[in-house]
Amino acid sequence: MIFAAKLSEVPNFGKNVVTVNGLELVLINIKGEIFACENECPHQGSPMQAGIVKDGHLSCPRHGYRFNLKTGSCLDNPDFTLKVFTAKVEGDDIMVEIG
Ligand code: FES
Repeated sequence: MIFAAKLSEVPNFGKNVVTVNGLELVLINIKGEIFACENECPHQGSPMQAGIVKDGHLSCPRHGYRFNLKTGSCLDNPDFTLKVFTAKVEGDDIMVEIG
C-alpha cells in the first residue's frame, strides 16, 4: 500500500484530493472509515471532489449519479462504475492500494 495523506488532512465527514502515483484521488472520511476513489466521474468526467456524500454513496456534482463508495457501482446507471481503491489507516497515515 502507498501513503496517500495524513488522517488529520481528511476530517471526519470531510474530503481531500491527493495525487498518488500520478493519479488524482478523492479521500473521504466517514466516522473514521476512509474511502478512496478517482476524482473523475466515469460518466462525463466531472471532478468528483465537489460531490455530496450520503448513505455510503458519492453523488456526482454534474448529473447526480450516485456511486457506492465501497464498490464504485452506480445506483442510477449501471453502465458506469467509479474506480474505487482500498484504503486503510495506519497510525496517522492513510494508505491506499493502487492496482
Ligand atoms: S458527469 Fe458525473 S453524472 Fe454525469
